[in-house]
Formats: sequence, C-alpha cells, structure tokens
Amino acid sequence: MSEKQSIHAIVAIDENGAIGRQGGLLCHLPVDMRHFKQVTMGHSIVMGRKTFESFPRRPLPGRQNIVITRNARWQHEGVTVAHSLAEAIQAAQTPDVFIIGGAQVYEQALPLVDVLHLTVIHARWASADVFFPPLKMDEWEEVEREHHASDSRNAYELDFITLKRRR
Ligand SMILES: NC(=O)c1ccc[n+]([C@@H]2O[C@H](COP(=O)([O-])OP(=O)(O)OC[C@H]3O[C@@H](n4cnc5c(N)ncnc54)[C@H](OP(=O)(O)O)[C@@H]3O)[C@@H](O)[C@H]2O)c1
Repeated sequence: MSEKQSIHAIVAIDENGAIGRQGGLLCHLPVDMRHFKQVTMGHSIVMGRKTFESFPRRPLPGRQNIVITRNARWQHEGVTVAHSLAEAIQAAQTPDVFIIGGAQVYEQALPLVDVLHLTVIHARWASADVFFPPLKMDEWEEVEREHHASDSRNAYELDFITLKRRR
C-alpha cells in the first residue's frame, strides 16, 4: 500500500517533551490508554523493536503491528517485521498508518507525519531518559483540543491535541 496513505503519529509527552524512562512509559493513565486504543484501532501501527518489547501483552489486538528492527533474524507471531522506516510504511495495509514510537522512530518519522495526536501530560519527570523531537509550531495547525482533569484513576491532568501539518 502506498497511494494516498496518511501518516499519523501518536505520542504522550510531558511538559518537557519527555516520553519515557527506563524502557517504559512515564506513568499509567487509563484515560490515555483508552484514547490511544480508540485512535489507532483498525489501523496499521509502526513501532521500534524496543517499544514493542515494552508492551506487557503483545502484539496489540485489532491492528496490524509492524515492528522495525535491524536484526535480520528477529520475528514474532502476529507481527509484520520491517528493516527500515520506509519498508514499514510500505508494508502497511491500511490508508492511515500510525507511528507509535519510541524516540528513535519518532525522530526518523516526524518529517513524514501529516497528523500528530499529542497527549500533553501536565507534569515533568526528572528521571525521563527519552524525548520526542522538538516541534516547530509554525509547521502545524491545531485542529482539536480536549482537556481532562485528573481524577482517582488518572493522577495528572492532560490535553489531547490534534495537529495537522500545514502544507
Ligand atoms: N510516551 C509515548 O507515547 C511513548 C510511545 C512509545 C514508546 N515510548 C517509550 O519510548 C522508549 C523506547 O524508545 P527508544 O527510542 O528507546 O526505542 P524504539 O524507537 O522503540 O526502538 C528502537 C529500535 O528500533 C529499531 N530501529 C530504529 N530505527 C531503525 C531503522 N531505521 N531501521 C531498522 N531498525 C530500526 C532498532 O531495533 P534493533 O535494536 O532490534 O535493531 C532500535 O534499537 C520506551 O521508554 C517507551 O516506553 C513512549
């Protein structure tokens, strides 16, 4: 598949642009997990091998899981393996392709991204060790924003923000 594909990225960042620490996410936010599932369900999702291996249950159901690795022998049941970002996007079987991380893959994919689904968590983690690449805000138009207050299950307030690349 390659004609008329839209490339999306989806990511949760803190106020410093951090996305993870010690191989995992910054925090557990059920409201963001639900949002991620809703946005990506039914589509192809592209991820780095480290992000795939950080999932407790893998692959993620209801989506074509495409994992990028340089290891020619790496494979996993239910996963489409690719050895470059271009190969991963080429292998995607849905018109909307979602880049779901991690930092290495976001860095390479950002120039190709048409729509960015950002969750901004209103907190900062000093222990963070992976970051989203810096965004040039004049390249993006905000098309949606939804605020969520913290509650008994979600310790931090957050915003779901959708940005479209200006063409
Ligand atoms: N907050 C969020 O929304 C979010 C989302 C996703 C991930 N994360 C976090 O991000 C962290 C993981 O990110 P990361 O940057 O360490 O790893 P990553 O991007 O998930 O995976 C990196 C791996 O992908 C493969 N890879 C990358 N570029 C490649 C290329 N051009 N060609 C072939 N293979 C390529 C390599 O696998 P091999 O080593 O097998 O060759 C590389 O080691 C974790 O902490 C995770 O929890 C956060």
